Amino acid sequence: MGGKTVGHDSPAGDLRLANLTKRFGIFTAVDDLSLTIPQGSFFALLGASGCGKTTTLRMIAGLEEPTSGQVLLGDRDIARLRPYKRPVNTVFQSYALFPHLDIFENVAFGLRRRGIRKVDDQVRRMLSLVQLDGYERRRPAQLSGGQQQRVALARALINHPQVLLLDEPLGALDLKLRRQMQIELKRIQIEVGITFVHVTHDQEEAMTMADTVAVMNAGRIEQLGAPADLYEFPATPFVASFLGQSNLIAGDAAGASGGDIGVSAHGARFSVPAGRARAERGPVFLGVRPEKLHLVDSAEQVPAGHQHVPGVVTDASYVGVSTQYLIRTAWGSELSVFAANSGAGRPAAGRRPGGGVLGPAARLPAAPRAGRERPHLAAAG
Ligand SMILES: Nc1ncnc2c1ncn2[C@@H]1O[C@H](COP(=O)(O)OP(=O)(O)O)[C@@H](O)[C@H]1O
Ligand SMILES: [Mg+2]
Repeated sequence: MGGKTVGHDSPAGDLRLANLTKRFGIFTAVDDLSLTIPQGSFFALLGASGCGKTTTLRMIAGLEEPTSGQVLLGDRDIARLRPYKRPVNTVFQSYALFPHLDIFENVAFGLRRRGIRKVDDQVRRMLSLVQLDGYERRRPAQLSGGQQQRVALARALINHPQVLLLDEPLGALDLKLRRQMQIELKRIQIEVGITFVHVTHDQEEAMTMADTVAVMNAGRIEQLGAPADLYEFPATPFVASFLGQSNLIAGDAAGASGGDIGVSAHGARFSVPAGRARAERGPVFLGVRPEKLHLVDSAEQVPAGHQHVPGVVTDASYVGVSTQYLIRTAWGSELSVFAANSGAGRPAAGRRPGGGVLGPAARLPAAPRAGRERPHLAAAG
C-alpha cells in the first residue's frame, strides 16, 4: 500500500466477525460466530455470564487468538495483528487507571506513548467530552467510581480508535449512577461517531443504549436486531425470556387460514396473525408479554375480538408502576399479568389472591385476533 495510511489512519469500515470460534481444550466458548457491526453504530452483545461475551471482545481486541475464523475491519483481516496494531481500544469494568499518574496524564497516556508532545488541547477536549473539566490534577483514588469510569473512557477515546470495546464497563456502579452513565455513553457515542461494541448481561442496559442488540447464548448468537424488534418479536423462547418476561404456552400450530395461524394448547384454541408467527405447523410456543394481558372478572367482560383463558389469581404484588399478578390456569401452569398503574381503574386491592374471595375466577384474554396485543409464536425446541 502506498502512502502513510496505516493503522489508526486507515479508512474505517464495518466490523465483521466471520465464523469466529474459540475453543479452550474441548470446551467451545465462542461457536462459529458471524455478524456485521456497521461502522458508527452502538452495538450490544447481551448474554448471561459465561456465554462467551468477553472471549469475543478479547478476540476483537487481539488479547485472545481465535481457534478459527476472521475479524475484519472494513476489508482488512485484523485477527492476527498484535493488539496495539489494531485500531481498537477497550474499556474494562475494572477501570485499570494508572494510580500514580494524575487524571491529565492518564488521559494523555496513549498520545505520549506514540511520541506526541503537544497533548494539551486533545486532553482538555476529552476531559470536557466526559464532563471532567477541572479534574486534571487529581489522582484516580480521589475520584468516585463513575468519574474513574469517565477517565477510562477519555483515555481510550483520545486514541481515536475505529472501534471502542466496552466490557461491562458500568458493572461496578450502583444502579442510579449506571442509568446516568448509560445516557451519557449514548451521548458520547453519538458525538464521536465511533463504533461501540458494548458487552453486558443487563438487558435493560443493552436496550437503553444500543442500536442493535445481539443476544448470545452458549457461544452463539440467538437473535440480533433492534431492541424493539427483539422484544416485540423474539425468535426463540430463550430470547423471549431473556429480554423481559414472557408467558410461553406450549402448543401445536395447525397451519394458516385467513391470515391467522391456529394453535391448540391445553385443549383450547388460539389464533395468531400469520405475520407474527415464525412457524406455521408443529410444536410451537405461544408467547404473550405480561403487560399485554388484561384481567377481567368474567367471560362476558372480554372485549369482542379478544381471546381469553380462565384462571385464578394466586398472587398480586404491588410494585408501584404496576401490579403484577400470577394467574393459575386450568391446565396448572402460571401466567403473569402486569396491570399498569395508570391512576384509573380499580385499585389493586380489588383482586387479592385467594380462592373464593372474588367469586368467579378471573379471566384473561390471551392472543387477540386483531393483533392489538401482539402475541408471538416462537418455534419450539
Ligand atoms: N482462558 C480460558 N481457559 C478456559 N476456559 C475459559 C477461558 N476463558 C474463558 N473460558 C470459559 O469460556 C466461557 C466463556 O467465558 P467468557 O467469554 O468470559 O464469558 P462472559 O464474558 O460471557 O461471562 C466460560 O465458560 C469460561 O469459563
Ligand atoms: Mg465477561
